[in-house]
Amino acid sequence: MHALRASVQITTRPADTPPTEAELAELVPGHDAVLCQLTEPMSRMVLEAGAAAGLRLVSQVAVGLDNVDLAACADLGIAVAHTPGVLTDATADLTMALLLAAARRLPEAERYLRAGRWDVWSLDLMAGLELRGAVLGIVGLGRIGQAVAARARGFGMRICYASPRRAPSDVEASLQAEWLPLDTLLARADVISLHVPLSADTHHLLSRARLGSVKDGAILVNTSRGGLIEEATLADALQTGPLAFAALDVFEEEPRVHPSLLDRHDVLLVPHIGSATRATRLRMAQLATDAVLDFAAGRPLQHPAR
Ligand code: DGY
Repeated sequence: MHALRASVQITTRPADTPPTEAELAELVPGHDAVLCQLTEPMSRMVLEAGAAAGLRLVSQVAVGLDNVDLAACADLGIAVAHTPGVLTDATADLTMALLLAAARRLPEAERYLRAGRWDVWSLDLMAGLELRGAVLGIVGLGRIGQAVAARARGFGMRICYASPRRAPSDVEASLQAEWLPLDTLLARADVISLHVPLSADTHHLLSRARLGSVKDGAILVNTSRGGLIEEATLADALQTGPLAFAALDVFEEEPRVHPSLLDRHDVLLVPHIGSATRATRLRMAQLATDAVLDFAAGRPLQHPAR
């Protein structure tokens, strides 16, 4: 905010709750740029209202852009900047934290102890999944998917991945990663981790049918976007199998979590904190601010959306 105030005139919306589309359509016109978060619905209606009164840049403090209508931005000549790269490690770390917690049954083990139920050590108490040799299926081998795969290799996991395009051979070789069709990956992976952006093509990628076709006892981890999973059907896949556990950082209608998940012991739920380290959040804010300042000074954007 200090850097922005020194160079450009700004209007802020000091509120903790996200604006509605209608409110944004009132607020945005008259501004050259909008600096927004993933909670802001930058829809065609909002963008059209903005573009009619000078809007030329949307700078988003996130890498994911599913709240921004990119087609409308292209039609209206509005540039879009986002924050790739700086949150890769933090998000991969949280993915591993969820994966480890799920594999070693940490939420269940902690509840068990706190409830005073632990009275004796026994050989099979809270026996979970051994990571060495287990198969990690990564859906989307971009920056974050690769960072997760590298970490998982350190734990001795075997890596396979699904993505529309095959990764370069040096990436495959360094991660010893096998490219598979999505349905084969789902049938083979002990742990499935989602790392694709949410778009019309990936919405409900893990549909009820696909959730029903995962390997028996599989763990599902999602630190990407909630809309990738048909959330309303997840409880059924857990209840009747084959899915054994879901560790979720993201949800279809944040901050709402589907009520069928809230009381289950086979889910671990955290509030979209993948990038939430102090250093990463600062870098994200810095990049989004830099985009506005570059734009104001007529310099090219460092991280335009593609
Ligand atoms: C993103 O950047 O898209 C994350 O979901 C929030 O940091």
